[in-house]
Amino acid sequence: MSVKHIFLVGALGCAFSWWRLPQIEVPTYFPPTVFALPTEAIDFQRAELGRALFYDPILSLDSTISCASCHSPYHAFAHVDHALSHGIGDSIGTRNAPALFNLAWAKSLMWDGAINHLDMQSVAPITHADEMGETMTHVVQKLKRSTIYQEALSTCWPNEEWETFHVLRALSLFQATLISQSTRYDQMRKGQVTFTAMEEKGYTVFQTQCNQCHREPLFTTGELSNNGLPMDSNLRDEGAFARLQTPGSKGLFKIPSLRNWAFTKPYMHDGRFERMADVLNHYRRGTYNHWSSNTHMTAPLPISDQESVELMAFLKTLNDSAFVFDPSHHFPKIFFQQAKERTK
Ligand code: HEC
Ligand code: HEC
Repeated sequence: MSVKHIFLVGALGCAFSWWRLPQIEVPTYFPPTVFALPTEAIDFQRAELGRALFYDPILSLDSTISCASCHSPYHAFAHVDHALSHGIGDSIGTRNAPALFNLAWAKSLMWDGAINHLDMQSVAPITHADEMGETMTHVVQKLKRSTIYQEALSTCWPNEEWETFHVLRALSLFQATLISQSTRYDQMRKGQVTFTAMEEKGYTVFQTQCNQCHREPLFTTGELSNNGLPMDSNLRDEGAFARLQTPGSKGLFKIPSLRNWAFTKPYMHDGRFERMADVLNHYRRGTYNHWSSNTHMTAPLPISDQESVELMAFLKTLNDSAFVFDPSHHFPKIFFQQAKERTK
């Protein structure tokens, strides 16, 4: 079936009459992905189903929390305002909800790298007592009872019954389509704009001081590392150590991407910093705490006041408002309107 044909079928009144032909653009200077990006039209439809699931509180036990409750599209899919994430029944988690984009390139997921495949990731929040507090079996039962989700499934996986696999796969395909590649930095790389002298100088500071960990063009190597933050004495989060129990894993956290930082505050695994200025202050003047024998940062970075201003000018080129305000990632209003009309 041709792409156009599927689109037409979609337009003829099934659950996907709101479905639009997707475009995935990956710049030539991006490295190969870890997770295969959707290429077939059917996979894009599955991603659209994943988009509906992402915004639907049906995935939580008391239908109050959706993925988007913690991963807001207007904040590059990070948590709004809270340092620590808030889940079902007002429970508070122990970490800051990370932004979601360029996940197809992620070597591992979660702040401590605990999960290694996007297809498996969603089980964690759905079943976590402090996040959505559900079971996969019950989610599947609820989806089976919904006419609109039944129709959606038969469009996406004809002749199959709802199973955990379909929930997870649809969610991961949707998340794989969240690609940030239209920052001013990208425009510069694509030859569409030239940096100002200030941005250019900041780029040099960045390459000298930050790039080894926040490596361009994704602005993360995807590895675990330690940037010398002192441990929060209440949370006592030892990062990957809880999972690996090796001395070398103490205090290791995943290096977050610096793309879209203006939308994703607060910063660090526990959201301890409100502003980029606080982050730079840590790197330039922080007390480096050596509770992690594995710290990759043992002394403040030598960045002068002037260089810090230049660095800031460069960092501002990493925010992608085209991505953040792209309605094709936002709440799929038409899907839910249809669902409501069917149940009247
Ligand atoms: C209660 C808030 C909350 C909800 C609801 C929630 N998340 Fe998260 N999410 C988090 C937090 C906090 C983390 C970081 C967890 C950690 O590192 O231990 C996270 C991590 C992730 C990551 C890993 C990102 C990375 O770069 O490593 C992905 C992907 C993700 N969530 C997707 C989802 C999806 C899909 C859903 C819905 C099924 C969802 N989340 C629901 C708070 C939430
Ligand atoms: C040795 C590796 C390393 C270097 C060098 C480094 N960082 Fe980081 N960075 C990290 C790690 C690891 C984290 C996550 C730490 C945590 O949450 O515990 C981080 C977190 C951040 C965050 C928080 C992002 C978020 O979404 O929460 C910002 C902003 C940041 N770094 C900026 C910079 C800048 C700017 C530089 C250069 C001046 C720099 N980093 C140099 C490893 C590094």
